[in-house]
Amino acid sequence: MKQFDNLYITTPIYYVNDKPHIGHAYTSLLCDVTARFMKLAGKSVKFTTGTDEHGQKIEKAAKAKGIQPKEFTDRVSTSFRELAKFMNFQYDDFIRTTEERHEKAVTALWNRLEERGQIYLDSYSGWYVVRDEAFYQESELIDGKAPTGAEVEWVKEESYFFRLSNWQDKLLELYTNQPNFVFPESRKNEVISFVKSGLTDLSISRTSFSWGIKVPGNDKHVIYVWIDALTNYVTSIGFPNAEDKEYKQFWINNDSFNVHVIGKDILRFHAVYWPAILLAADLPLPKQVAVHGWWLNEGEKISKSFGNAIDPIGLATEFGVDQLRYFLLREASFGQDGNFSKKNMVSCINSELANNIGNLVQRTVSFLHKQCSGVVPIVDKNLLKNEESLPDCNAIIDQVMNHLTKYEFNYIILLIINISSEANAYIDKSAPWTLSKTDKERMNLVIYKLLEYIRIIGILLQPIVPKSAEMILNQLQIPKEKRDLKSLCSACLSSGIILPKPTPVFLRFDAEIVDL
Ligand code: ME8
Ligand code: MG
Repeated sequence: MKQFDNLYITTPIYYVNDKPHIGHAYTSLLCDVTARFMKLAGKSVKFTTGTDEHGQKIEKAAKAKGIQPKEFTDRVSTSFRELAKFMNFQYDDFIRTTEERHEKAVTALWNRLEERGQIYLDSYSGWYVVRDEAFYQESELIDGKAPTGAEVEWVKEESYFFRLSNWQDKLLELYTNQPNFVFPESRKNEVISFVKSGLTDLSISRTSFSWGIKVPGNDKHVIYVWIDALTNYVTSIGFPNAEDKEYKQFWINNDSFNVHVIGKDILRFHAVYWPAILLAADLPLPKQVAVHGWWLNEGEKISKSFGNAIDPIGLATEFGVDQLRYFLLREASFGQDGNFSKKNMVSCINSELANNIGNLVQRTVSFLHKQCSGVVPIVDKNLLKNEESLPDCNAIIDQVMNHLTKYEFNYIILLIINISSEANAYIDKSAPWTLSKTDKERMNLVIYKLLEYIRIIGILLQPIVPKSAEMILNQLQIPKEKRDLKSLCSACLSSGIILPKPTPVFLRFDAEIVDL
């Protein structure tokens, strides 16, 4: 991804059938952190998220509450927007499928498919699961239930079909020619074997309920919620207006990395149906579908439908937004499932954020106040070079960008933690408190070098823990325009300025007191 100038990154649009949980926060967080790193690297970025508001599942949920679907979706959509704000996700667009711009885009896409002979009317009979908004084949059922464990129902009705079966070879070609189209590899293999097993045409309209976008020219039919939902990725950048600036910049332009970040539950829709639809509509494809694993609670997928949800707002209120962001990124390896444990979260916050990074900042700035009245010492930059070297910033940036292409946020965090451990070890080894009595010049050098370490850590931490990193960089009085990756190597701390007294950045939690 690093060779691209533009990044268009999307979360799934979440169903509004219930409140958001930690899984939704996680996907959006992955996008937010990627977007923030790319902005720091000077790229143009568009990051979108939103809510999926049509379909039978929503209609049912609204009915159960005794209100109109629109009133219901207004309410729940707001809670997803609030979560994003609360978690400090800097999205550029929040798309709702009930918006007019979206209805236009879905209708236009349908018409394009129809004009190209990709849609026909027939009748459908098969196994349907409302919870998954998905059809399953007889052969996929396990003990009479869907592979997801949900109850299936037999439906038979008139339906429009998309000629998915036409696209099998082109899809296989895509996975070969664009080897990172589905990432990681294990998910790609899963997709390839699914496509190789044979694709049947896809039922893309329903007549049994009405909450959705109508099929153009046939009001009896509502467009299948997944066609509706997937289209959001182009609605948000101006489709069907081919002249739209963002559409050109982020979708048509080959110099844009456009990626859909999703959980593995919706792999097939994104890695098979969506590219097939785009191919059939003769539209450009995204560059990648990046698929992460599930957060588990006691080994079970956390899910609205299972009622074992973990509330991100509650957790972040107790431990801090940055602390939750940090833990989610630190704990899970991209693509793998992660087991959520409050105990692990507390110990991770304490040992890495508080004891390692927090302590480094606190010790250094306190010492600066004690010995130099808070004034950043003037040092001979040549001496600084001769001193054991500071981390190699160019190499760090390369490593960060390389990890970023694989969504290895846990490695990026490790890299930062290692820098902090190195700085803490340097304090102990160079013992500046002794130097204050024996060699003031060298003491100044040591302090300066420690502040440089903190500056580097602060800059790198921004995408991960934005508020805390800002506190650290403010503590060092780093000008706002010197906080990007370019400045990591080229700028350094100004001597002679007075730094404010230290305020603790990362609190420690008493594992005995926290209710685990
Ligand atoms: O599927 N662990 O919406 P949805 C990690 N509207 N991530 C999780 C998770 C968990 N336990 N549970 C949910 C839909 N997620 C459709 C999408 S897109 C065109 C339409 C995250 O509300 C993960 O990103 O069920 C997953 O793919 C998504 O929420 C599903 O959200
Ligand atoms: Mg779901």
